[in-house]
Amino acid sequence: MTSNDSVQKAPAKDPWELPDVSGLVVGVLGGTGDQGRGLAYRLARAGQKVIIGSRAAERAQTAADELGHGVEGAENAECARRSDIVIVAVPWDGHGKTLEALREELSGKLVVDCVNPLGFDKKGAYALKPEEGSAAEQAAALLPDSRVTAAFHHLSAVLLQDPAVEEIDTDVMVLGEARADTDIVQALAARIPGMRGVFAGRLRNAHQVESLVANLISVNRRYKAHAGLRVTDV
Ligand SMILES: NC(=O)c1ccc[n+]([C@@H]2O[C@H](COP(=O)([O-])OP(=O)(O)OC[C@H]3O[C@@H](n4cnc5c(N)ncnc54)[C@H](OP(=O)(O)O)[C@@H]3O)[C@@H](O)[C@H]2O)c1
Repeated sequence: MTSNDSVQKAPAKDPWELPDVSGLVVGVLGGTGDQGRGLAYRLARAGQKVIIGSRAAERAQTAADELGHGVEGAENAECARRSDIVIVAVPWDGHGKTLEALREELSGKLVVDCVNPLGFDKKGAYALKPEEGSAAEQAAALLPDSRVTAAFHHLSAVLLQDPAVEEIDTDVMVLGEARADTDIVQALAARIPGMRGVFAGRLRNAHQVESLVANLISVNRRYKAHAGLRVTDV
């Protein structure tokens, strides 16, 4: 018997064993837009404490009042400061500038980037190629003191915002460098009825996930749908 034989390997952790995130405060930068409002509404409806961020405090307040469910509104910087998890839901155009300005407020926070860098022309939507590889990698480069993850790219803001829709029938691909952080984001996705967070790799593979939205937009246009995605056999 070698010395290696006697070393007992710890049993692999069940990947569906996720932490309790119900007590964490979730901020949404750009939370006055369709995607931000939709996510804020779903999470708040599931019992999460949510703060909507905006470049203007009063716009955030108005949106928060409209959403109800205890949602609060604040300027983006205050939203980031007061939140444990911060979802980035601003347009790709304003992504870099917004994050650069919030580096200090986002320090130590779990950042969830859902930004899809897309262009649109006569042929429809197409994926842009950010210099850093993806929006999520740009966020990681700009926020060295934050824990950057990527998720919630493939959701329909229309379905998220529709109070008549009880369940959001989709998986959410979650990417990041630290398993503890992606577990938290998976657990957050799972707070929303019908939704499941699935680990989908490190940030260097975020570009494909962000780009896939161009394909989903084509699906939605052809079939007049609000398509989601399911990863099978997991
Ligand atoms: N819509 C969807 O179905 C969907 C689905 C998945 C992912 N996403 C991603 O989520 C992000 C937001 O999408 P959206 O449709 O909600 O966009 P949006 O409505 O155009 O923008 C969201 C909010 O961002 C703020 N904003 C606008 N321009 C900005 C700038 N230059 N710098 C900083 N903030 C700015 C605005 O809030 P204030 O004026 O109040 O600051 C706006 O209400 C996008 O990156 C998109 O790729 C969208």
